[in-house]
Amino acid sequence: MKPQKLLVTGGAGFIGSNFTRHILASDEGIDITVLDKLTYAGSLDNLKVLEGNPRYRFVRGDICDEKVVKECARGCDCIINFAAETHVDRSIGDPASFIMTDVYGTYVLLEAAREMGIPRFVQISTDEVYGNAVSEPSKEDSPLMPQSPYAASKAGADRLAYSYFVTYGTPVVITRCSNNYGPNQYPEKMIPLFLSNAMDDQPLPVYGTGENTRDWIYVLDHVKALEKVMNTDGLEGEVFNIGSGIELSILQVAAGILDALGKPETLIRMVTDRPGHVQRHAVATEKIRSQLGWAPEVDFTDGLGKTVDWYTDNRDWWEKIKSGEFKDYYRRMYKELHEK
Ligand code: NAD
Ligand code: DAU
Repeated sequence: MKPQKLLVTGGAGFIGSNFTRHILASDEGIDITVLDKLTYAGSLDNLKVLEGNPRYRFVRGDICDEKVVKECARGCDCIINFAAETHVDRSIGDPASFIMTDVYGTYVLLEAAREMGIPRFVQISTDEVYGNAVSEPSKEDSPLMPQSPYAASKAGADRLAYSYFVTYGTPVVITRCSNNYGPNQYPEKMIPLFLSNAMDDQPLPVYGTGENTRDWIYVLDHVKALEKVMNTDGLEGEVFNIGSGIELSILQVAAGILDALGKPETLIRMVTDRPGHVQRHAVATEKIRSQLGWAPEVDFTDGLGKTVDWYTDNRDWWEKIKSGEFKDYYRRMYKELHEK
């Protein structure tokens, strides 16, 4: 049965807001409550187009707060948990909020789902839980070897969700996606940081050698995969990888961004590597392709083009972010850029 009343946690962030906008536009039979704490990474600007939509409700609150979670979950037939602290670099500097939100917050949501008998719970995990995909793309049953406090917190939440299925029969499905890019991504993440820096003729700080690789997926492809997962019966206890199969190094992506914007490669600046930096993330996606008939639709050149257009047309959106708290973060994080 397709859900009709959905609770989307973290819906004011990058992927959650793309998901919420897409589902409300494509499925007229669904009502969505977004529960979001509006941390530095969340913004109502991402959901502005939904204001006044009678099928959408926004609640500002913390997934660690049992009371607000239960209020929001009452009457829902599906919870989809995007809410998390998500930036690997910030988790290295200050892991506490990651453990709190990503692990404890997921526990609070799972408890609510268990007590209230919610018929579906989608836990948005990540390919970071696998750690380095040394010789071949990670499969759903590959060992979990997280390499950062962020990844370890997400692995904790991922396995906690699974344990609720095995122990209590809570109808949990877990997804592990690769690196998303597209509209509304907070400009601390590599692609929007490099794009917005390049637009302002500022340096693009590449960690280490820049030869490490990621699988890059356009956010709407991820959203459509989640739509399939959410609307398919009989997936309880399953894990699904989601990825594009487009594996590119950081230097290749940086070059693509500069090329798309007509900016010189001299903007690339090599900086000290991230501690514990994962050299390669790559996921095997045969399971979701064969079981759910999903496949990515957007190639990297198109996806990057759409992303460049969005950041060009929405300069106000990222300039507002970059002029706030972000300035201090950037100065601290990229000290060596200012020293040189
Ligand atoms: P994001 O940082 O853009 O958004 C996170 C959202 O969660 C924000 O709106 C924030 O306000 C909210 N939030 C944080 N703590 C909260 C709390 N305690 N209670 C309620 N809301 C809270 O993140 P994103 O990139 O959109 O990622 C969304 C989810 O997808 C995360 O679970 C992340 O681990 C996962 N994921 C992300 C990627 C990626 O490439 N971005 C890839 C795979 C998986
Ligand atoms: O793999 C999925 C994960 O992808 C998600 O679970 C995370 O929430 C999401 O943030 C992302 O994690 P990454 O660490 O891969 O993303 P980030 O954009 O921070 O970095 C991408 C790559 O670019 C990584 O190899 C580090 C590098 N990088 C990043 C930044 C911010 C740089 O070289 N310079 C930078 O300034």
